[in-house]
Amino acid sequence: MLSTRSPVLAKTAYRAIGGAKPLAYTRISVVLCQYHAPSFNQVQQVRNFSFTSKAPIQGSQTLQIAPTQTRQRETRQSWPHPVYTEKQMQDIVIAHRNASTWSDKIALNAIRLLRSSFDLVTGYKHDPKIASGEKTAEGGTHFTMTEKKWMIRFIFLESIAGVPGFVAGTLRHLKSIRSLKRDNGWIETLLEEGYNERMHLLTFLKMHHPGIFMRLMVIGAQGVFYNAFFLAYLLSPRTCHRFVGYLEEEAVITYTRAIADIDAGKLPAFESMDAPRIALDYWKMPEGSKVREMLMYIRADEAKHREVNHTLANLDGDMDPNPFMTEYEDPTKPHPGKGIEHLKNTGWSRDEALSK
Ligand SMILES: [Fe+2]
Ligand SMILES: [Fe+2]
Repeated sequence: MLSTRSPVLAKTAYRAIGGAKPLAYTRISVVLCQYHAPSFNQVQQVRNFSFTSKAPIQGSQTLQIAPTQTRQRETRQSWPHPVYTEKQMQDIVIAHRNASTWSDKIALNAIRLLRSSFDLVTGYKHDPKIASGEKTAEGGTHFTMTEKKWMIRFIFLESIAGVPGFVAGTLRHLKSIRSLKRDNGWIETLLEEGYNERMHLLTFLKMHHPGIFMRLMVIGAQGVFYNAFFLAYLLSPRTCHRFVGYLEEEAVITYTRAIADIDAGKLPAFESMDAPRIALDYWKMPEGSKVREMLMYIRADEAKHREVNHTLANLDGDMDPNPFMTEYEDPTKPHPGKGIEHLKNTGWSRDEALSK
């Protein structure tokens, strides 16, 4: 099945899943056999989707996802993260933009279908009133999520979330160099969004090792989603940005629920766990920050993506400048920007976005 004692098969499998180059494939093949074969049989009995390595959630400072290489160097970030204040992050709320056009309705229904299918396959259940604050997670009967299940969900969703920004950025880049026209500043924001999502993923990978089945699921999902989004973006960029706006609405809900569960004492391992070093460096978090604070930053990022994509879906992609990269005459007036100082949950209208 998925495990093998053959060094050749192990080598092929590790290449396919993008694993770090092992020192000896023979040794890796034994590891595959010892760890993944038993967990495959075991976990299949209780879950339809995703088994992971049997390693517990780990203190992030000790876990490496790849062997440390002697030639590794610290590199400067191309997109330094804007600083968020605690108040700004606490003010993030769940929000929904009404679907007013056919394009919006297609995007919203696509997200609803994807979300309900994914929840069904992964056995995810959660009381919707918990995220909205109508109820606390304490004593909730619908709660079935553990730290490990949250990790699996975060890793899978972030591996998908990193796709749209780069697809859109790539297609706009190609259009610009093909049509010999300027892009009006959209590309950088789109690529930065993809980079930000990848940082979310890398952060979670410092806390949990996905098993081989999970890795294969990520590869399969990326193969399907990348190509589908690529084709859809060629047909209707506006619908695709709206789709991402709705996707980010769901991401805000997901992280709000996770934070509510921590606050209700449902996730004790998260409560005591330090945020990984990569998170402290990227978000410029204070030393000693915990996972809860890290999730607050990530949720704020998702709210930013929600605003950006709902706004871009309101604009004319061929004509309008990117309002998030524009200099405004009066900086005190609320306007689209890089941080979350003037966050507009359901996006800026075209008139607002293009005003000076
Ligand atoms: Fe994310
Ligand atoms: Fe996002």
